[in-house]
Amino acid sequence: MKLRTTAKISAAIIAAGILLPGCGGNGAAQKLKETETVQPASEAVISNIMSRRSIRRYKPQPVGRDTMQTILSCGINAPNGQNLQSWAVRAVDSQDFISGITEIYLKENPKAADDPSFRNMFRNAPTVVFVACDPGYDFSQVDCGLLGENMMLAAWSMGIGSCCLGGPARFMTGSPAAAEYLERLDFPEGYRLLYCIAFGYPDETPAAKPRDPSKVRFID
Ligand SMILES: Cc1cc2nc3c(=O)[nH]c(=O)nc-3n(C[C@H](O)[C@H](O)[C@H](O)COP(=O)(O)O)c2cc1C
Repeated sequence: MKLRTTAKISAAIIAAGILLPGCGGNGAAQKLKETETVQPASEAVISNIMSRRSIRRYKPQPVGRDTMQTILSCGINAPNGQNLQSWAVRAVDSQDFISGITEIYLKENPKAADDPSFRNMFRNAPTVVFVACDPGYDFSQVDCGLLGENMMLAAWSMGIGSCCLGGPARFMTGSPAAAEYLERLDFPEGYRLLYCIAFGYPDETPAAKPRDPSKVRFID
């Protein structure tokens, strides 16, 4: 993602105050308007967060492993309870794996193939990251969520799209036919596949979905 001009960023922040949670009119946007100073680093971070969208159409080219390694490193540097790092993460760029599990998915969900653009059950992404949590730790799902957002934002900053995917994880944990693929992920004993993240170069530019700012407020 390119660094944008201060004017554009300020407009985005002010618009976000209207549209997005966590940036209500009396919140961050207001503070930024009051001070009228935005540091370049924070501009880049805020622009990256505000412009990220879930991508559901990808170019076929895979994401290189070095790039994925950077994304994964950003993931495991997320805050996590007691630094227990109660996640297990598997990156898969094997088209054999992705098409194999998709074949099983299609047997149970044949209608998915009605979409002529359907190539795989991960929104056609060439790379998929599987995230498992430790059900023995009560905040493990929080850890896993923060890990994922770090990865998705890191990816977006490098022009790589992503989509958090609950559906495929639900399928893989619920269908006995998918067990072989779950085993291939080789998660530690007792860990549970929680969600997946599709990664790839975007082949669409979706509009932002509206947020409900009333979900967020200050308490005096
Ligand atoms: C826990 C979770 C599960 C999701 N599962 C799916 C999914 O199975 N399929 C899908 O297309 N998008 C899925 N999404 C993406 C959301 O639909 C998306 O983040 C939301 O509509 C907001 O859009 P945005 O990410 O572009 O801001 C999931 C997101 C989260 C956080």
